[in-house]
Amino acid sequence: MPAPKKLGFTITVGNAKGGVGKTTVTVHLAAALGLGGYRCLIIDLDSAAGATKHLGVQPDGFAGTLELLTTDEPIHALTITDGMPKNVSLIPSRTQLSELDVRLSRFVDRTRILERPLAEACAHYDFILLDTAPAAAEITTVAAYASAAWFLLSAFPHPLSLAGMNEALRDIADVRRHRNPRLEVLGVVFSNVDGRATRLRAELEQLVNDALPGRMFETRIAQAVILPELSGRGITLFQDGMTMRLPVAQQYLRLAAEVEQRVLHREDFLTGKPLPLNAAHCRTPHARELSLADVILGWAT
Ligand SMILES: Nc1ncnc2c1ncn2[C@@H]1O[C@H](COP(=O)(O)OP(=O)(O)O)[C@@H](O)[C@H]1O
Ligand SMILES: [Mg+2]
Repeated sequence: MPAPKKLGFTITVGNAKGGVGKTTVTVHLAAALGLGGYRCLIIDLDSAAGATKHLGVQPDGFAGTLELLTTDEPIHALTITDGMPKNVSLIPSRTQLSELDVRLSRFVDRTRILERPLAEACAHYDFILLDTAPAAAEITTVAAYASAAWFLLSAFPHPLSLAGMNEALRDIADVRRHRNPRLEVLGVVFSNVDGRATRLRAELEQLVNDALPGRMFETRIAQAVILPELSGRGITLFQDGMTMRLPVAQQYLRLAAEVEQRVLHREDFLTGKPLPLNAAHCRTPHARELSLADVILGWAT
């Protein structure tokens, strides 16, 4: 019997700035969607290998993204599944990825190097998450922006974020105009949210709402010191029975539900129609598992 068709949603997690939660959001979003029964692939496109390390994989220990982009290796030969969150696979990065430019033939169109791998990945995974480097000019970042269907903007609401946010919004507009008109903004998520900085957050959210009406995620990820700690231990919140019950884990689950709802109801979302939060779950075969997670975590919407 042929394997059931996969959904094949490609999501670039981006922001030209570093230290704004891209990697943490990528790995937790994949883990939360995986918990809901979706098959997820993370491609670590950053030579700093943040997602690779966060998932407990020794960078430089494995072939991965560099081979994916410079050879004809099939995806399954490069994915790591051992020790990953449930239903999550990883194509790891390593420092040599920074040499990508010299490794690629001068006749290769650098903006299109992800097209073949993503086409292949779409046949085998429901969600493909691209964790990008904090530099919009990086080859892998440009290729990710050029090839994905969705863009998820990750930011920290810090005083210095205003300029960064404007730059990120301009990058997205430029990509849509010059390179990938079908790229849609899936949403903007704020992480590391400190309950006290409400005025600053309101200002940033206003900026996002003016530029991208309706695209802010309702869910915000609170400041949680457990996150850097877990990243150092090489696991996500969802790989430990204690941490998966924390409020911040529930926030990532809720973010995953918002993502699920937006991609499954693409047209309604893009035209600004209201999306009932639970409707998405009811229509997918994964509904039962995600609802189960709701029950386990005491998360009722
Ligand atoms: N919600 C949060 N609360 C506290 N620290 C966070 C939170 N999200 C991320 N961090 C920490 O902030 C730092 C930068 O996050 P990271 O995801 O690596 O950003 P980026 O990938 O954009 O560089 C990391 O040390 C990470 O553990
Ligand atoms: Mg990162």
